[in-house]
Amino acid sequence: MGKVILDMDTGIDDALAIAYACAIPELELLGVTTTYGMAPVDQSVRNTLLVLELLKCDAPVYRGAEKPLVRSRVYSGTFHGNDGLGDVNRREPKRTAEEMHAVDFIIEQSRKHGSDLTLVTTAPLTNLALAIQKAPDIVGKLGRVVTMGGAVAAPGNVTKFAEANIIIDPHAARVVFSSDLPITLVGLDVTRKTVLRQEAAEKWREKGTESSVFFATFTEYYLQAYKKYHPYLQGCALHDPLAVGVAACPDLVGTVPMHITVDLDEDALGRTVEDIHRESPASPNTQVCMGVDAERFVSDFLSRTDQA
Ligand code: BDR
Ligand code: CA
Repeated sequence: MGKVILDMDTGIDDALAIAYACAIPELELLGVTTTYGMAPVDQSVRNTLLVLELLKCDAPVYRGAEKPLVRSRVYSGTFHGNDGLGDVNRREPKRTAEEMHAVDFIIEQSRKHGSDLTLVTTAPLTNLALAIQKAPDIVGKLGRVVTMGGAVAAPGNVTKFAEANIIIDPHAARVVFSSDLPITLVGLDVTRKTVLRQEAAEKWREKGTESSVFFATFTEYYLQAYKKYHPYLQGCALHDPLAVGVAACPDLVGTVPMHITVDLDEDALGRTVEDIHRESPASPNTQVCMGVDAERFVSDFLSRTDQA
């Protein structure tokens, strides 16, 4: 069984990723570390706790970074709502987060489980960058980092070049990609090909349980945003669930080894770029997902989350 930590800014597709991870018996969910991103960190904590409660999963939740290393964060509720989950929830979770900071949990678990541990990040990379800066020894220990973020050949979704999780904290991303950690990059090159259609949300609504109706309602919010901004997709992208899928089943994707660096120049801020112009040759630092068996992934996601 693969031990896994999810590092999230729990918005809508992060919540779908939690449901998927909980439904994969081969993954042992050690905990969820949270950060700001689509909403402030305290909202991410609440969303994570509520989603886990509805899924009847008692994995511990850790509060992490509140802001990017250098930049400042301005929130917009366009894709995820002001509360990160489509502004449809009326109640508070019963549990609270653990005392330990998310960064310390990542360090502790990396030291404890070493190569058995996979960290799946679906948020700005601030928690992981802070963990590397505080405890550089985790670089040689942590088994694998599967990161939803970036766009290598595909266009960005915030600017022409940059994807949200990277551009929100490009300095943290720079720390992570310069670190020698074994990274698999699940970027827009593949996640835009994995599409959830309206019928899935309708099916969850018809099921009529508290969790399935909640999932249907916030997913419909996301679908509406996609209809407005990316109508050609005919559904919403399963960005964060695909990272969980890759952690559980690496052969869902085809990867290309590259040396990825993060652009910090203003005109291309947050671009994840293959560093082909480097002066001294460096070995590849990232397995970049460039192909995906989207049909197999979406059907696996739907059949497993049907239990939620
Ligand atoms: C990423 O940004 C957020 O909107 C999603 O949750 C995902 O992690 C996609 O660019
Ligand atoms: Ca996310």
